[in-house]
Amino acid sequence: MAMASPTSTSAICSQPWLCTQTYCGSPMPSKSLVIFGAGGHAKVVLDALFASGGDFGRIELRDGDPELWGKLVLGLAIGPLHISSELAETPCHIAIGNADIRRRIAAEIHSAGGNLVTIAHPRAIVSPHATLGAGSFIAAGAIIAPNAVVGEAVIVNHSAIVDHDCLVGAFSHIAPGAVLGGGVTIGRRTLIGAGATILPGCSIGSETIIGAGAVVTRTIGDREKVIMVPASKVV
Ligand SMILES: CC(C)(COP(=O)(O)OP(=O)(O)OC[C@H]1O[C@@H](n2cnc3c(N)ncnc32)[C@H](O)[C@@H]1OP(=O)(O)O)[C@@H](O)C(=O)NCCC(=O)NCCS
Repeated sequence: MAMASPTSTSAICSQPWLCTQTYCGSPMPSKSLVIFGAGGHAKVVLDALFASGGDFGRIELRDGDPELWGKLVLGLAIGPLHISSELAETPCHIAIGNADIRRRIAAEIHSAGGNLVTIAHPRAIVSPHATLGAGSFIAAGAIIAPNAVVGEAVIVNHSAIVDHDCLVGAFSHIAPGAVLGGGVTIGRRTLIGAGATILPGCSIGSETIIGAGAVVTRTIGDREKVIMVPASKVV
């Protein structure tokens, strides 16, 4: 799999499921990989890990919903969501679709000394000239083109395209099949809905929602919700 860091363009990743500037090409960390979240998105993340051939250590699943504790997700048991100093130096990934929860848990993991790790499905295409932020997730079929910069804990979902020179802010989510044309800028905690298209060069603000299937032809500000073709504000 192609590497994400501009400093690692020639590196061959020995752990394709675990792709970060910290661990690329490094020996497998001895600690468990802790995955936060056990819902639908967690299944997608686990699937990406399994698709890599299973060459990883123990995976621990943690979720805040007591109803789920002890249950299985894709064969893995779910435990309580606790975050403390036992996470120091532990590889962690937040597999939760909600941006605010992702942001809150990321802050707690940082305080506890844990390391957010990036996971890319082995059948995602990530340019060696792109940069993936810590804790981001790149699903099967997604493409991250040269000079794209994907922020911390961003989700680029199945078959989404982040074209050249795009900037995607922390905790945003590019939903399945969405297309960001070249040079698009996306703020923080923004959702680009499934199948939406953002024309090249457009800017989208923070905490904004672009509805599924919308085509964005102009700049969209912060905290807006737009739908349709061309995209216009939901009133
Ligand atoms: C845009 C969106 C956020 C609107 O959600 P909402 O505020 O709850 O809006 P509602 O569902 O109440 O719909 C309001 C109206 O807009 C229409 N509408 C909703 N989403 C639409 C869309 N994406 N395109 C066109 N029309 C849409 C509804 O049919 C409804 O029309 P009506 O008033 O004539 O009945 C949501 O529909 C959406 O597209 N979310 C993206 C989901 C997604 O892709 N998630 C990724 C998961 S991996």
